[in-house]
Amino acid sequence: MIVRYPELGELVMELTRIAQEEITHFGQVVERIHARGWVLGPERKDDYVNELMQFVRKDGSREERLVDRLLFSAMIEARSCERFKMLSEQVDDAELRAFYRDLMISEAGHYTTFIGFARMYGREVDVDHRWKDFLAYEAVVVARYGKAPTMHG
Ligand SMILES: [Fe+2]
Repeated sequence: MIVRYPELGELVMELTRIAQEEITHFGQVVERIHARGWVLGPERKDDYVNELMQFVRKDGSREERLVDRLLFSAMIEARSCERFKMLSEQVDDAELRAFYRDLMISEAGHYTTFIGFARMYGREVDVDHRWKDFLAYEAVVVARYGKAPTMHG
């Protein structure tokens, strides 16, 4: 988004801040993996994310595409927030529970940031309507998956 919309200064600065926060969290996760004597695994294909991406318009105006991309990010962040909430409530390890709770709070902030930017920049778009359509689309996607435990699927 920074590369595609470099003229949107507020967006560029906030996305930079979020990217820094996310990479800090990534480092904290890797530390915990290493502390357990494990190694980081290879990236796995994420069908859920790929299917969500199909909702993002390739045509339409530049503004419509930006709104869709922001809503896509908002959805990812909102679902991450929900997963971290569950983990923060269910995991036995007290340190991990606190860590997941911090991540939950962070992801909630990212979700509201992305929705806020969609409303701010989507002046010609009915953002609430588009978000409802996206939720309905996601519900169909999710219904096709089983109940296997995964973090991002
Ligand atoms: Fe995030």
